[in-house]
Amino acid sequence: AQPVIVAIDGPAGTGKSSTSKAVATQLGLSYLDTGAQYRAITWWMVTNAIDVDDPSAIAAVAGKPEIVSGTDPANPTITVDGVDVSAPIRTQEVSSRVSAVSAVPEVRARITELQRAVAAGAEGGIVVEGRDIGTTVLPDADLKIFLTASAEARAARRNGELKGADVNATREALIKRDAADSSRKTSPLAKADDAVEVDTTELTLTQVIECVVTLVEEKR
Ligand code: C5P
Repeated sequence: AQPVIVAIDGPAGTGKSSTSKAVATQLGLSYLDTGAQYRAITWWMVTNAIDVDDPSAIAAVAGKPEIVSGTDPANPTITVDGVDVSAPIRTQEVSSRVSAVSAVPEVRARITELQRAVAAGAEGGIVVEGRDIGTTVLPDADLKIFLTASAEARAARRNGELKGADVNATREALIKRDAADSSRKTSPLAKADDAVEVDTTELTLTQVIECVVTLVEEKR
């Protein structure tokens, strides 16, 4: 089989991570969670008391933290300056601030460079998930998928992960984050012209995985 580069983009809660990890595992590909990288740099900003509402303060230190992503879909680790931040990057605090940090062009330039290096080093092929992979990071990807789902479905799925959260609050937070990610100037969340759009609202995770695996196999 040829090494393939698969880009999976879409808003929050559409099943990107679950789908990407499962597809990579089934097909023996590497995996990169680019959202985790933006969360990691945001965690570092918050931890170091950088004012995340001040883009110039963010830009000034964007190059400082060293971020390293593991690419095993069975164990996707992420470290900042050698510290494993897999758990703390998932807090509400980071989720509510990540859009402001990821909108800063210096942050995007830095993280995009990391992403391209990881993809270039993945010899057997890779599944890369995010918001701007098909449009900006890897415009020559062999296959581009854009996952969508209704806001209700996305909030319900996210709530299943966050035990005991209020589904309305979750939905509002997701809508707010998507609006910020879609409206920023530098590489916003967008479907690439040549991406295959898959609406997952009425599909099970297994069906979405099967659909993407079939599309990848057609490219190999
Ligand atoms: O995928 P996840 O929800 O963990 O992404 C967190 C945030 O990281 C997004 O809301 C967005 O602000 C940012 N992001 C981005 N570009 C990507 C991936 C994520 O701006 N390729």
